Amino acid sequence: MTASATSDYHEYPKTLPPDDFWGQVRRTVNGQPVPAEQIDLIVQAVCDLLELGAEDDLLDVACGNGALTNLLAPACRNVVGVDHSEYLVDVARRNFEDAPRVTFTLGDAADSAEHEPLPERFTKVLCYGSFSFFPDATARRWLATLARRFSGVQYVLLGNLPDRDRAPAFYGDRAGWQASLEDPDAPIGIWRSADEVSALAAACGWHAHLSVMPPPYYARHYRFDALLERAAS
Ligand SMILES: C[S@@+](CC[C@H](N)C(=O)[O-])C[C@H]1O[C@@H](n2cnc3c(N)ncnc32)[C@H](O)[C@@H]1O
Repeated sequence: MTASATSDYHEYPKTLPPDDFWGQVRRTVNGQPVPAEQIDLIVQAVCDLLELGAEDDLLDVACGNGALTNLLAPACRNVVGVDHSEYLVDVARRNFEDAPRVTFTLGDAADSAEHEPLPERFTKVLCYGSFSFFPDATARRWLATLARRFSGVQYVLLGNLPDRDRAPAFYGDRAGWQASLEDPDAPIGIWRSADEVSALAAACGWHAHLSVMPPPYYARHYRFDALLERAAS
């Protein structure tokens, strides 16, 4: 299997120009970076759903090369991005770090949540276009750790999730796609239905509010967002 036929974010980004930020995180359509208006829609949706404001300290989990983090930073007080791709974190640091307000760290989502020394400082958490690459065990460990240790977090946004219920319409006549739906290493990762995401969140202490992006958004026909709030105890 070639690097581009998997969800590889370690070696594949190295094959692209250092400033092809959207290409490096595969925010592309037919191999081309998505237009700026689409990025604007994403930034607006994240700011609106998370209700980002000047008092917020945002944890951007699986932030990739920080290109999206960088566009969200003006809306918050502080941002920490974390990603397990050494190459992408290096791109983020070189291009977008503005310490101490905007910083990037290397690490696995769940491991870094378990070891974060000051978890209570964060008010909001984002995981955009990345949750599908977390195997179930990582997803559960990460969400449960956020609920347990990150006591100041009001919302967790799981953005741009591929919807299992709409996979048949997305793939149409193409052959062999069913086998990849539960594979976190496949190009789109694990497709989870809205019910599956809600149940997974509930098992970890969160209540999910589900939504779909507005019509101009290029991936609205197969993706959705889940805004998590602490479940009533
Ligand atoms: C499609 S990119 C999205 C990057 C960024 N959130 C954005 O929207 O531009 C997916 C990212 O998830 C990261 N990732 C996948 N599994 C991870 C894990 N277990 N811990 C940390 N990062 C992970 C990859 O390295 C990659 O940078």
